[in-house]
Amino acid sequence: MPEGPQVSDQTTTVRGGLIGVGVGPGDPELLTMRAVRVIRAADRVLAPSSAIDAVGRAESIVRQACPGVPIERLVFAMGDAAPSIEAAAATIVAHLDAGDRVVFVTLGDPNVYSTFSSVAAIVTELRPGAAIETVPGIMAFQELASRSGTVVLQNTERLALITALDGPDSLGDALDDPTQAVVVYKGGRHLPEMAKRLASTGRLDGAVVGELLGLPGERVLPVAAAVEGPAAYLATLIVPPAGRALELRKAENGLPDRQAGERSELDLSEPEISRPSAGVAVQRTEGL
Ligand SMILES: C[S@@+](CC[C@H](N)C(=O)[O-])C[C@H]1O[C@@H](n2cnc3c(N)ncnc32)[C@H](O)[C@@H]1O
Repeated sequence: MPEGPQVSDQTTTVRGGLIGVGVGPGDPELLTMRAVRVIRAADRVLAPSSAIDAVGRAESIVRQACPGVPIERLVFAMGDAAPSIEAAAATIVAHLDAGDRVVFVTLGDPNVYSTFSSVAAIVTELRPGAAIETVPGIMAFQELASRSGTVVLQNTERLALITALDGPDSLGDALDDPTQAVVVYKGGRHLPEMAKRLASTGRLDGAVVGELLGLPGERVLPVAAAVEGPAAYLATLIVPPAGRALELRKAENGLPDRQAGERSELDLSEPEISRPSAGVAVQRTEGL
């Protein structure tokens, strides 16, 4: 067997190495079986937090899905993230040098807009031979599509996943192609302006927003009904291809309307399990 830390393939049965584990957007039921197995098998589970005494969102999910697993916090200060990322990488490297299998849990998927990739890049610089893997997680937009009954893509339609931290101009050309679905991350603060932009480009119909999905304070509703003020940082928009909402309404002809966010009669989940607020006080720091 080769020397040094390694995690081999996705079965992660060999000791040592760093694994970024996606824990989904909020509902602990959305952790995959692989994620649960890898978390339980880890020597150390690290979770991002805004302060050493604050339960971050990823930690809260893991606490509910994997009770009893000890979780260590990595503090990421708001503002300039670079020093926190470097400190987190240094902590991880020390654990790797001790031969530990280290799991870093992160919201959604670890390969999409995740602090994990920044931390992993520095770990690789410090220890070029370090074995680094990821376990995929369900992304916020997938949960939003499911909860709102939104068909995101069909046939040859395309998807643009964009961020809108700086406002509705970030939507740019993404709305130009009517066959392109657009998912917007990090735009909660600009929700009213984005709603106006969608209306002026004829893309408001069918657009939905999910705020704090699976977390205390969750809202799932049409963007048209959410224009009164900004949403939290943890808000996601889906703008389906133009005309989709109309088609769906035709297809549903005669069926009673279901409010976005309302659970269907086919509800497969146990409400008390899927309400993540149960028993865990979450520090409501943006994003962590
Ligand atoms: C730093 S990115 C993390 C993305 C994450 N890695 C993923 O795969 O979904 C943060 C953005 O993800 C989206 N997001 C993550 N969790 C969410 C949730 N529970 N509810 C709504 N949006 C969420 C929001 O758009 C938020 O601004």
